[in-house]
Amino acid sequence: METSTETREWVQVGTSDAIPEGEARTFDVAGVGVAIARVEGRLYAVQDLCTHDDGPLGEGSLSGFAIQCPRHGAQFDIRTGAVLSMPAIAPIGTYEVTEKDGLVLVGLKGPAADDDDDDW
Ligand code: FES
Repeated sequence: METSTETREWVQVGTSDAIPEGEARTFDVAGVGVAIARVEGRLYAVQDLCTHDDGPLGEGSLSGFAIQCPRHGAQFDIRTGAVLSMPAIAPIGTYEVTEKDGLVLVGLKGPAADDDDDDW
């Protein structure tokens, strides 16, 4: 799995075993709340902030690739950030995430990042 690009700064957030299959955990990544979930063995990272009313998504329940906000029940696809059910109408941001040597790394835009990438 690719662990670096020209426009990414990879930030270590924890160990792989901290995120069990079918569960999500929340991490502070350079001052930004990021919810990371493991589904079918793969990690997915999204913003830990519901677009409906700022609910803590990382504390929500996970069903397959859908994460449900604990406040009012909106659901989002953790692969794309797309809204799956109301009351949210705007998608959430996603982040690149990978594992290397037992560590979880989240990709943040570096100083020379190209702003054409809209996955934040
Ligand atoms: S804050 Fe998430 S559904 Fe309302």
